Amino acid sequence: MKKNMFPLMLLLGLVSGIVGWPIDEFNIFNYGASGFGEVDDSKAFVNAWRDACNARTQNAKLVYQLIFGKIIAPGAPESWNGRDSSQWIAFKDVVGLNVYGYGLIDGQGMRWWDQSCRYHPVLEGCTKLAPTIFKFISCKESTLRDIYMVNSPQTHVLILNSKGFNVDNVTIQSPEHSPNTDGIHIHSSHFVKITNSIIGTGDDCISIGDYISNIDIANINCGPGHGISIGSLGKNKEIVHVEHIHIRDSTLKGTSNGARIKTWQGGQGNVRNITFENLEFDAVNNPIIIDQNYCDVRGKCKEEETGVKISDVVYKNLHGTSSSKIAINLNCSKSVPCSRITMDTINLVSVQQGNPVTANCTNAKGTEVEVHPGPCLRN
Ligand SMILES: *[C@@H]1O[C@H](CO)[C@@H](O)[C@H](O)[C@H]1NC(C)=O
Ligand SMILES: *[C@@H]1O[C@H](CO)[C@@H](O)[C@H](O)[C@H]1NC(C)=O
Ligand SMILES: *[C@@H]1O[C@H](CO)[C@@H](O)[C@H](O)[C@H]1NC(C)=O
Ligand SMILES: *[C@@H]1O[C@H](CO)[C@@H](O)[C@H](O)[C@H]1NC(C)=O
Repeated sequence: MKKNMFPLMLLLGLVSGIVGWPIDEFNIFNYGASGFGEVDDSKAFVNAWRDACNARTQNAKLVYQLIFGKIIAPGAPESWNGRDSSQWIAFKDVVGLNVYGYGLIDGQGMRWWDQSCRYHPVLEGCTKLAPTIFKFISCKESTLRDIYMVNSPQTHVLILNSKGFNVDNVTIQSPEHSPNTDGIHIHSSHFVKITNSIIGTGDDCISIGDYISNIDIANINCGPGHGISIGSLGKNKEIVHVEHIHIRDSTLKGTSNGARIKTWQGGQGNVRNITFENLEFDAVNNPIIIDQNYCDVRGKCKEEETGVKISDVVYKNLHGTSSSKIAINLNCSKSVPCSRITMDTINLVSVQQGNPVTANCTNAKGTEVEVHPGPCLRN
C-alpha cells in the first residue's frame, strides 16, 4: 500500500523538563514500523504518537523531542476525506517542543496544486484549503530546526498563537508556480526568530500576519517566491497590531518582492518599528515596496477615510538589482500617510545594465541619506 505512508524513522521522546529525569522514548520501530517505505508505517506512527501524548503528566513543563527521518505525505487529496484538510502534522498547546531531523519531509502537493482554486478557478470542486505540513498552535519556548521539507500542498510552516518560537537551519523548497505555498507564515505570535534558512516557494518565503511583535529574521536565502512580506493587513476594517520586527542579513533572488509591507484601505491600527537591514537583492521585481492601497483586484477597492498607520520603518544598507523600473515604491494612503520613514545607504540599479530605475513615494514622510535612486521622501 503506497498511499498513507509515513516511511522511515521517527523517534518520539518525552522528557521531563527537569534535567536528569528519565527519558520516555516512543520509537516507532517498537510499534512494528519497517521504516523503509515498502509497507505502510502509518499505524505504527499513530500508535507511537498516541502513547506519547497519553503519557503526558500533569506537569505543565514538558519537553517533547521529535526526531524525523524521511516522511512522505499521502499524495492523493482523497486520503484526507473526512479529515481536517488544513493540516498534516500539527502540534497544539505544548511548552518546550523541540522538532528536528534530517532526511526529508515531502508534502507531495502536486495533486493539490492541480486542483487549487487560485490557479484553476473554473474547475469544479477546486480546493481553497490544502494541508499545511507543520502547524504549531499555542506553543511556547519551542524550536523547529534542521528540517528539509518540500512540496507542501499549501503553507509549509504555520506558527500561530505562539510565544518564544525559534526556527533555525530549515530548507523549504516548492516550485515557483505552486499556489499559496508560503514558506513560513506567522500569525498572533510574539518573540519569534527565524534564522539560517533557505526558502524557495511559489508564494512568500516568510509572511507576517496580524497580532505580531518582536520578530527577528536573519540569514535567510529567499527565492524564488514573493519575498519576505508583512501583510496583507487590515482587510475588512480590522484593527492591526504589528510592531518590533527586524529583517536582516538576507538575500532575495528572483523574487517578486523584497522588503514588502502591504495593507488594505479601511483598516485601522499600526504597523510600526520595522527595520529592514543588510539585504541583498538579485533581480527582484519590487525591491522596496509599501502598498498601503492593497487590493486583491486592481481598481475594485474604493478610497477609504481610514487606513493602517505605518510608521518608524527603517531601510538600511540595502543593495542589488531591480527587474522593474520602480525600484523604490512607497505607495501610502492620502488619509493616513506613512511617517518617520528612514532610508540610509541604499543602492539599487536595474538588472539590465544601463537602464534607469526610479523611486516613487506617495504620501510618505521621513529622511534619507545616500539613497539611489532618489530622492523620494518628503520631510
Ligand atoms: C542543518 O540541517 C542539516 C539537515 O537538514 C544538517 O545536515 C546540518 O548539519 C545542519 N547544520 C547545522 C549548522 O546544524
Ligand atoms: C524596535 O524593535 C526592536 C526589535 O526589532 C526592539 O529591540 C526595540 O526595542 C524596538 N524599539 C522601540 C522604540 O520600541
Ligand atoms: C499606488 O496605488 C494605487 C492604488 O492601488 C495604484 O493605482 C497606483 O498605480 C500605485 N502606484 C504605483 C507607483 O505603484
Ligand atoms: C508615481 O506614482 C504616482 C501615483 O501612483 C503616479 O501618478 C506618478 O506618475 C508616479 N511617478 C513616477 C515618477 O513614476
